[in-house]
Amino acid sequence: MRIDIITVVPELLVSPFGHSMMKRAKDRGLLEIHTHNLRDHTPYKQGQVDDYQFGGGAGMVMMPEPLAILLDKLMAERTYEEVIYMTPDGPLFDQRTANMLSLRENMIIICGHYKGIDERIRQHYVTREISIGDYVLSGGELAAAVVVDAVGRLLPGVLNDETSALFDSFQDGLLAPPVYTRPANFRGWEVPEVLLCGDPKKIDDWRYEQSVKRTKERRPGMTE
Ligand code: ADE
Repeated sequence: MRIDIITVVPELLVSPFGHSMMKRAKDRGLLEIHTHNLRDHTPYKQGQVDDYQFGGGAGMVMMPEPLAILLDKLMAERTYEEVIYMTPDGPLFDQRTANMLSLRENMIIICGHYKGIDERIRQHYVTREISIGDYVLSGGELAAAVVVDAVGRLLPGVLNDETSALFDSFQDGLLAPPVYTRPANFRGWEVPEVLLCGDPKKIDDWRYEQSVKRTKERRPGMTE
């Protein structure tokens, strides 16, 4: 999978993909991430990428031309199945969307700043908008990192058996059950006995019950 990320703060995207799973995905050649500094593609002087909004009002808007120039360039080089715009007014990101995006070959992610991008880019280039939650970040970069991480870890070969995504929260419509490790008794706090009984069927049943209980308590809407 190849992901091209358009940003005005490329520095924000260096660290999230340099460690752990995302590093493994890149090292194994399963995930290519290319970040593009929008300022390098603007026809305006001094790297200008934003301007005042028509109609007045506080806050700058990202101009259409630098975005269109860079998008045209990328889209002439290869086919992209998705042009995603990270924005708090988009549909909420969830595991289903992550699963679906993990099947794509090439994607572009646009990170907004200021008041966002000119609406005409949303209308004519963007194929999908994503919000990672009902709160406003100072830019789309951290939100893009969330999406890339959630999608990247699903690529075949990134996770090994022990970390398999099959048993993640949300994959089966349920939250994951509680987990424990050694010691079995920590400060007098005991691990549930069933986990030490060695009977896989009993353990599976217990985990399933716990998942259902947790989901009902914490995400009542999910089980309906
Ligand atoms: N940009 C700013 N806030 C955001 C959010 N909550 N989700 C996606 N992109 C954003």
